[in-house]
Amino acid sequence: MCGSVAVARAPELARVLMRHGATVVPVLSAEAARLIGEPLLHWATGQRPVTELTGEIEHVAQVGNVPGHADLLLIAPATANTIGKIAAGIDDGPVTTFATTAIGEGIPVIVVPAMHEPMYRHPIVGRNLETLRGIGVEVVMPRIEEGKAKIASNEEILSAVVRLLAELPADGGETERDAAATVGTGPGGRLGGRRVLVTAGRTVEYLDPIRVITNNSTGKMGMALATAALEAGAEVTVIYGKGSATAPPRARVVRVETAEQMHAAVREQLAAPGYDVVIAAAAVGDWRPVAGAKEKISTHDRDRLVIELEPTPKIIDGIRREFPDVFLVAFRAQHDLSRDDLLADARRRAKKADADLIAVNDVGREGAGFESETNEMFLIGRDGREEHIPLASKLAVAERIVAAIAEQL
Ligand SMILES: Cc1cc2nc3c(=O)[nH]c(=O)nc-3n(C[C@H](O)[C@H](O)[C@H](O)COP(=O)(O)O)c2cc1C
Repeated sequence: MCGSVAVARAPELARVLMRHGATVVPVLSAEAARLIGEPLLHWATGQRPVTELTGEIEHVAQVGNVPGHADLLLIAPATANTIGKIAAGIDDGPVTTFATTAIGEGIPVIVVPAMHEPMYRHPIVGRNLETLRGIGVEVVMPRIEEGKAKIASNEEILSAVVRLLAELPADGGETERDAAATVGTGPGGRLGGRRVLVTAGRTVEYLDPIRVITNNSTGKMGMALATAALEAGAEVTVIYGKGSATAPPRARVVRVETAEQMHAAVREQLAAPGYDVVIAAAAVGDWRPVAGAKEKISTHDRDRLVIELEPTPKIIDGIRREFPDVFLVAFRAQHDLSRDDLLADARRRAKKADADLIAVNDVGREGAGFESETNEMFLIGRDGREEHIPLASKLAVAERIVAAIAEQL
């Protein structure tokens, strides 16, 4: 870790890596140590942070030519200063010396730059990043949004770590499978060898060729579940309605629009043998027009429009009957209910669908709505046991749900 404001995210990043099975040893530049307290990182990782090189030659012990060295060196956040030094082969502190040693030893190195946007435009900073790429260092670039450079998300950093570890050659006693299992992915992960079908996003029902009835789901929760399932080693297909969320790169995606199309796509997927789990996270519309107009409904010659609606197919209710062996996870969104009513309603819904697990949230609560980055949920298993997942990022909530699935499968 280097001396960037983004170092504030380091404990959370360490915890994400640890949740995927990694052991994380914090190594801090002097400036990073000045910005963030060592005890916090010690607490977060359970490892004593390296803030100086001592007679224990920490760089050799961790990333040198010694048995049991680290599998990967992740420099996040990486400052312009440290990037420049590494590119020039300078090592004058713990982070730069770890980098020189790891690069020389052939240990994968990931650099996650964090800088004020104009610093990226400095030609020598750009050249330094190119130099690093040229010697095989993986650079996880920031996103530029509204003229500001935003360091890569923990999810993107985790993805890069998982990918590099899974690509490790099978030498030195480390197999691809071992490497993948270390971070909970690949055949050795908790859902290793399992096939998971996720429905995500919202459906739309056409009133006429250009107007629709829909809801505010963005698909973020569904994609977080797809990501968590991939990280756990599963092969994932997402049936995706409308939404602004991006599917994780390794997921197979089938796009649909209406509830009926989503229903047909789910049945078609499940008809091909091999699916172990269905996570029905999409916000499927409950109503559709009995007769959608073939042409745009004119607003000129009327002051009122009455549309008759009929229920859409209840996708989740048909799954158990047709596919009795699949592990079925239902989702339920309610609005402004007491905790007791929320849970009682979820139990009834799970029973009706004969679901193995139901995840329910109250979209009326702060931070648990459709368009938020966070969620708060309750999980109820077939045995009736309930678990509260407190407010957290959608990915963290998804990881807990996927862990519950793996435990109960
Ligand atoms: C609060 C604070 C935030 C900073 N954020 C950044 C940053 O995001 N990126 C960067 O390149 N430098 C940043 N700097 C400047 C670096 O800390 C400075 O260049 C320092 O020499 C870097 O040392 P290091 O690379 O050994 O950690 C920041 C400085 C302060 C005090």
